[in-house]
Amino acid sequence: MSRASFSTTVLADAEAVARAVAERIAELSRAPGDEAVTIALAGGSTPRRLYETLAAAPVYDRVDWRRLELFFGDERAVPPDHPESNWGMAERALLAKVPSVAHRMAAERGDAEAYERIVRERVRKRRGSLPAFDLILLGLGDDGHTASLFPGTAALGERARLVVMNEVPQKNTRRMTFTYPLLNAADRVWVLVTGGEKRAIAARCLARRTPVDRAAPAGTSYPILGVEPAEGELIWWLDRAAAAR
Ligand code: 6PG
Repeated sequence: MSRASFSTTVLADAEAVARAVAERIAELSRAPGDEAVTIALAGGSTPRRLYETLAAAPVYDRVDWRRLELFFGDERAVPPDHPESNWGMAERALLAKVPSVAHRMAAERGDAEAYERIVRERVRKRRGSLPAFDLILLGLGDDGHTASLFPGTAALGERARLVVMNEVPQKNTRRMTFTYPLLNAADRVWVLVTGGEKRAIAARCLARRTPVDRAAPAGTSYPILGVEPAEGELIWWLDRAAAAR
């Protein structure tokens, strides 16, 4: 059983991060075996370039698209054609161009249990009793949130359910999100952090990845710090602008 591992990879710019991560996803899709390779996509704006890179030559031709089964780690409570929809962004950048099965997170309906059932049914690999994604992609907000796990919100404390609706007063909205048990059961979690506007929060969070802080309740001050795959690989992919000290 692989042990937990943490590393950071710093590349020249956002384009280099998108290309490197896309190539690694292509490799994952070609792993030996024929079972589905399950990936939970991140929302927001950072991963758009990654999705576009995956959906275009040369990387497109290196991906075994029919093995990939795609999910979403969080979604805003809006319909898929809404400008803020994570599904909408991913559909334009990737999903409309590839044949992979993708499971939309219908957050506007608020039925988190339904999405949890889909995850439990379709992600067959288990870590203990939990579905273990092959890969979960995440971003980082400037307050240290990830997925829709925002500071001070109820979902941070969820330890039983894998997908919940989370009230986010900071955004005056509700969002559907994976919870820490599901995130931390994954084989791989890759956090994409690019751009100078992320430099301060990235430095603050990385400086707090110390054993002492990790003893604190998961991610209380900076929710991203609660993402510590139990036996999986955690990689922070940064560009130089976000990584500069
Ligand atoms: C979302 C994302 C969220 C995002 C961060 C960073 O639904 O918005 O899941 O966690 O990753 O807010 O967003 P940017 O990539 O736009 O900076």
